Amino acid sequence: MSFLPSPHGGTLIQLYQPEFDIKSIKKEINIDAIALSDLELIGIGLFSPLTGFLGRKDYESVVENMRLDDGTVWSIPITLPVTPAIANELIVGESYKLNFDDETYGMITVSECYEPNLQKEAIEVYKTEESAHPGVKHLFQRGSVYVAGDIILVKKPDKGIFTDVWYEPKETRALFEKKGWKTIVGFQTRNPIHRAHEYIQKVALETVDGLFVNPLVGETKADDIPADIRLKSYRALLENYYPTERVHLGVYPAAMRYAGPREAIFHAIARKNFGCTHFIVGRDHAGVGNYYGTYDAQHIFAEFTTEELGITPLFFEHSFYCNKCEGMASDKTCPHGKEDRVILSGTKVREMLRDGVLPPSTFSRKEVIEVLIDGLKEATTVTGGR
Ligand code: ADX
Repeated sequence: MSFLPSPHGGTLIQLYQPEFDIKSIKKEINIDAIALSDLELIGIGLFSPLTGFLGRKDYESVVENMRLDDGTVWSIPITLPVTPAIANELIVGESYKLNFDDETYGMITVSECYEPNLQKEAIEVYKTEESAHPGVKHLFQRGSVYVAGDIILVKKPDKGIFTDVWYEPKETRALFEKKGWKTIVGFQTRNPIHRAHEYIQKVALETVDGLFVNPLVGETKADDIPADIRLKSYRALLENYYPTERVHLGVYPAAMRYAGPREAIFHAIARKNFGCTHFIVGRDHAGVGNYYGTYDAQHIFAEFTTEELGITPLFFEHSFYCNKCEGMASDKTCPHGKEDRVILSGTKVREMLRDGVLPPSTFSRKEVIEVLIDGLKEATTVTGGR
């Protein structure tokens, strides 16, 4: 008997068909990196129950109600945008190869093409129309017509340096079962793991069997630390400070949407598909700038029942090192004032790292800092500085 949660919608979708005779399909649609990632993640079931890119009914229902048309909770529209010129050429009912950089990765059978209300999508999903928001910027830059239809995945993109930490939901599920874990907490991050992250992960780990460290390595905004450098820092941290038998590192290859509360729901559902029973939601989860309230990504979970989500969120307050407590804490556990707390913004830390300045060990482990400084130095040498 399995203790793991059922995949979202009940079935782990599996649409990878490498043997499919893709050469028999003559027409093609060129897709961008985000669509390629979505294609693959639909194909391997990380986005179960989706079997393709959303049609209008599902899309409108997701935008308005955070549910697919059949009522299943779904908070982020997964769509395939094209230009009106390309859409005009497409024929409903026909199949098209999905190409990225002249390589075919999948096929879509077009069920419809429709014009989305992008302003409405921006306001409902991202809570802003400002193109300074990286998710909104993408939304308006990508095509203005959405192509809907079921897909198959015929080729998986090369995993490069992520090969040994790249797991499909069917693999993580088998792995968790093998380890005998009955409760697993998933942790999302798009940053190097600092002491506050480590603290909330380990507090969570006190009450569950396993921790799945699941950093996002899909598209992020330009000033986030690149995923290849982050990966080295995760390895260094886990090697030195985590109990290997109770922690597992695997990447989350989705694009970052920066959609705050809505993305927290989406992140939780994907982690359920990986087999997690719990999911950490801390301060300003998946946020950017000042678009969301500090705990909005926690409050949104109240809009759904535990049964329909099928994964339990674990909420954490803003955590920090307190010099008087001489340990990690939060407002819930620390009576001291701001002056005793080590709090650095992500922007400040990125600046320090790029200037080769070491943030204090009360903020980040030295092994992590060393990897980041080296990695960023190399990256700026390669690209000729920024
Ligand atoms: S995110 O965009 O991936 O959410 P980040 O990598 O900063 O950003 O956060 C990863 C997770 O840790 C999120 O759940 C976030 O809410 C939480 N978190 C980040 N910093 C803190 C902190 N200082 N205190 C509590 N939770 C935090």
